[in-house]
Amino acid sequence: MTKTSRIPGFHRMAPRERLAAVAAFAGLDADAVERLGDTGNLDAALADRLIENVIGTMNIPLGVATNMRIDGEDVLIPMATEESSVVAAVCNAGRQCYENGGFATSLSGTVMIAQIQAVNVADPQAARLRILDQRAAIQAACDACDPVLVSLGGGFRDVEARVLETAGGVMLITHLIVDTRDAMGANAVNSMAEKLAPSIERWTGGRVYLRILSNLADRRLARARAVWRCADIGGVAVRDGIISAYHFAAADPYRAATHNKGVMNGISAVVLATGNDTRAVEAGAHAYAARSGSYSSLTRFEVTADGDLSGSIELPMAVGLVGGATRLHPTAQSCLKILGVTSAERLARIIAAVGLAQNFSALKALATTGIQKGHMALHAQNIAMMAGALGDEIERVAAALVAGGVVRIDVAQSVLADLRNS
Ligand code: MEV
Repeated sequence: MTKTSRIPGFHRMAPRERLAAVAAFAGLDADAVERLGDTGNLDAALADRLIENVIGTMNIPLGVATNMRIDGEDVLIPMATEESSVVAAVCNAGRQCYENGGFATSLSGTVMIAQIQAVNVADPQAARLRILDQRAAIQAACDACDPVLVSLGGGFRDVEARVLETAGGVMLITHLIVDTRDAMGANAVNSMAEKLAPSIERWTGGRVYLRILSNLADRRLARARAVWRCADIGGVAVRDGIISAYHFAAADPYRAATHNKGVMNGISAVVLATGNDTRAVEAGAHAYAARSGSYSSLTRFEVTADGDLSGSIELPMAVGLVGGATRLHPTAQSCLKILGVTSAERLARIIAAVGLAQNFSALKALATTGIQKGHMALHAQNIAMMAGALGDEIERVAAALVAGGVVRIDVAQSVLADLRNS
């Protein structure tokens, strides 16, 4: 029988029924079906409401980083990631600046931007001013969209209009500037943009197409800084190696992409653990890293007046406490409780500190022993498991791989065979 991806009524099926249909399509065995059907700490019915066509859940390890002191308070950091060394990197960075006070953070605001795209505007410069003249009406329309947000101190803050030259002609882009407080804000600002679209068409005489938030949330910049004393990090050569690594990333997009990937290793892990939108934060971070026109580093490292290492980070951080998965996923709720956060602002600031911590440890490892040494212990365990090691065998095979200096699956298989024969 030829396989078909046209499965009538798939979206109306229960997760178990969908799983059976998928198992038949893909030839999954009973074990695989059993495993996929075990949704772990996320109720299947809830999973089925969060996204479409659910058949199961995907579990990712949740680790907790220790040693983090942020704005004078000790914090345990839950991190959801599949990558080894990411949690350890934060613990190490936190430990090395703990005695010196840890991290100091701030947030520029909880303000999001929604864009409304108008095309075919005959007089875009004058239309721009006509929009700005309507500030009061725009404010009233935006705030009427979300009275709860307004009652919490949020709502419309400003309107901007930009005349944009594009390959498809001149466009008039309206920005709604909205304080979304403890919400990430996508739903709030998208509703406002959609509501205003007909008025924008009337005022501009143009045609509105897109009405959507911007992920370049540059009114919601999270900042963190820390000073690592030279003596605590292994001396001047280590300090200078880290600063040189930063200069490399600042000057070269090829290196900056990897440098910032490391930053996001930490950031995305906390964003995911708290049920927030990893892609929104990632898009904002990378767009911000390219704001000068050339993609560059999200962090900076320099020498303090005392000769110590000063590190800092600044990036958009659109995270909330009241949105969909954050509110509904019980693990996300527990992670927020572990973090002890009661505002989106505190969460954003903690996440920025984690990004800086992650980057510090990556640069330190890269500028000294190299990244592989730290990776190897856990990597060797993964390879041992892939070779079929079980229980105690995993540690023993991994230890033999590390001792032998070659961490490869064929070597692991032969170590395992020897172990079982002995
Ligand atoms: C690996 O996931 C992240 C690093 O490549 C980051 C970096 O190079 O700075 C180690």
